[in-house]
Amino acid sequence: MRVGEILNVLTQFFHRQGIENAHVDAELLIAHVLRCKRLDLFLNYDKPLTQQQADTLRTYAKLRTQKHPLQYILGSVDFYGQRIKVDARVLIPRPETEELIHQLSEYWGDTPPQRVIDLGTGSGAIAITLVTLFPHITMTASDAYADALCLAIENATVNRVAHKIQFLHSDWFEKIPQHFDCIISNPPYLTEQEWMSAQPEVQCFEPKHALVSKDNGLADIKKLLGQGIKHLNPHGCIVLETGMDQHSHLHSFAKKCGYRSSKTTLDLHKRGRFFWAWL
Ligand SMILES: C[S@@+](CC[C@H](N)C(=O)[O-])C[C@H]1O[C@@H](n2cnc3c(N)ncnc32)[C@H](O)[C@@H]1O
Repeated sequence: MRVGEILNVLTQFFHRQGIENAHVDAELLIAHVLRCKRLDLFLNYDKPLTQQQADTLRTYAKLRTQKHPLQYILGSVDFYGQRIKVDARVLIPRPETEELIHQLSEYWGDTPPQRVIDLGTGSGAIAITLVTLFPHITMTASDAYADALCLAIENATVNRVAHKIQFLHSDWFEKIPQHFDCIISNPPYLTEQEWMSAQPEVQCFEPKHALVSKDNGLADIKKLLGQGIKHLNPHGCIVLETGMDQHSHLHSFAKKCGYRSSKTTLDLHKRGRFFWAWL
């Protein structure tokens, strides 16, 4: 079969199997097998697949119908212009986190802070992107899970910024003695119930420890706010990606911790998802 025909067959197959973005997923998997860009697929519409390409595509299609996340099958994700390798060790970086990068970039403008930490770095997406955008930042990135940290280091190496980031293996601030001008984290914040009702791609394949937090999803965020204040330089700022129903609680908690001021900013769907607090 030729690429154009395979695309139609695979799209229909994915539709019947309840895959949400059937056409896009089919295009991306075929492009991956052909080692071309998705937008260049139409140039290959009349090309037949080799036997090996067809076999590989069949394997990928089967994984996708078993609800393996597309990005794990492709092995990487484009994050704010960086190619970030992903697998079951780490959470797949989300477009919401790209929005956080965008808001940080707007806020910093031409005067980024000097010392920054990305706590719970996972794939390294936040730290790698920020040092690429702001090469003069002194960046630290940490995670409590050694296998995630290994992948973050690999990603930093591939993106040629490993020499710009200090990677630390630490349970939040436990092994981090330094102070920072900006503390950034996208910590686990789902409740157990939210995780139970998440899509199978999330619930069955992404690491639960990257997603779920005790105390109604607030335990890790509260730890970061509580411990973070002791690691901020004067006038420093902590910025967290959070769930959308957590902010009224977080503003009063931040005040109790001793932060001078705090604010909520919205994601692209106008949901309050980013929590900022200043010392
Ligand atoms: C929601 S994921 C965020 C990953 C990545 N920063 C991103 O935005 O795509 C949360 C991360 O926090 C890490 N983590 C969970 N508990 C932690 C802890 N106690 N200390 C440090 N990191 C932790 C997880 O391993 C995971 O990588």
